Amino acid sequence: MKKILVGTGGGDCPGLNAVIRGIVKAAKSDGGHYEIWGSIEAFNGILKDEPDLVLLDNAAVGGIHVKGGTIIKTTNRGNPLSFPTQDADGNWTTIDRSEELMGKMKANGFDAVINIGGDGSQKISLSLFEKGMNIVGVPKTIDNDLSATDLTFGFTTAVQIASDCFDKLVTTASSHNRVMIMEVMGRDAGWIALHTAISGGAEICLIPEIPYDLDTVVGIINSRYKKGKGFVNIVIAEGAMPKDGEVVGSTAKDAGDKHIKLGGVGNALRSQIEESGCEAQVRTTILGHIQRGGTPMAFDRILASAMGVKAFDLVKNGQFGEMVALQNNEITSVKIADAVKDYNHVNLDHYLLKTARALGISFGD
Ligand code: F6P
Repeated sequence: MKKILVGTGGGDCPGLNAVIRGIVKAAKSDGGHYEIWGSIEAFNGILKDEPDLVLLDNAAVGGIHVKGGTIIKTTNRGNPLSFPTQDADGNWTTIDRSEELMGKMKANGFDAVINIGGDGSQKISLSLFEKGMNIVGVPKTIDNDLSATDLTFGFTTAVQIASDCFDKLVTTASSHNRVMIMEVMGRDAGWIALHTAISGGAEICLIPEIPYDLDTVVGIINSRYKKGKGFVNIVIAEGAMPKDGEVVGSTAKDAGDKHIKLGGVGNALRSQIEESGCEAQVRTTILGHIQRGGTPMAFDRILASAMGVKAFDLVKNGQFGEMVALQNNEITSVKIADAVKDYNHVNLDHYLLKTARALGISFGD
């Protein structure tokens, strides 16, 4: 009997449980030659003195594909190559525990790892693969910012949540003749914002790929007020910025989490609009982690299940160092080294940008 260790790392995302279930069911259908184990909180579980592992059998994964979150927990403070630890003086620092991890894998009889995670997690997969680990990746993120796959599971659910919230803001914007700013996630990519703006019918959509001009934004608001249309609905991506401006965020305070925490650009825009002398009342809603929570939509359950099944195949076929991907409506795989090379920004020639502009949505440029 061979043993596969499964971990979910980085921010959670609707569909993670469907991937886990897909792996377990595929292994069972294949004849049950593999045991699947979950490491609680990414690699943290196996790195513990008393490893925190859970056997993922059919009973453990029954019905979990409809549930949000991850049954094996996640963390963004579990990079084995840069693991947070406290020194003798109580100061936080990081150490490389990758060799220890390799030892623990061997000691616990694991033959391979399936690492389900985003850009950061797949960079960890690549480093561990280069150190000799039998590892495959499954891409995960609501941001859809991984370039090697046409789509990541969780993105469609996040867009649906954002779109539902946007619809609610439109009715209150219209009642009060207000400017409503809705800030969505997406890190340095405007995918969630762009999809939501088209789905909801925003007047303005601000994304990281197109730095906005405040005068243009205020001009649109003022001209709608003059025409008596009153309200304006704006979707802004958390990574958006004004021309000659910077992203709004703060450095993470948690040891071992080096990500800049984006968030607050919606409030910054509100201040900029108000300071411009615009008479309209402006309100901001920051959706935040709502976009990652709850039940995955059917599409994401299906995509995540297919990716889980494919991940098992990659292990079975010995295709280590590869990551599952959706390309041209086929589930395939790519080298992790290639997958982490480029960030998936909204391409300025993308058909949805053209669609949005044709629908009258301004990008503030
Ligand atoms: O990458 C997914 C994401 O939800 C981003 O959209 C957001 O910037 C970030 O994670 C938030 O991370 P955290 O879980 O650390 O708050």
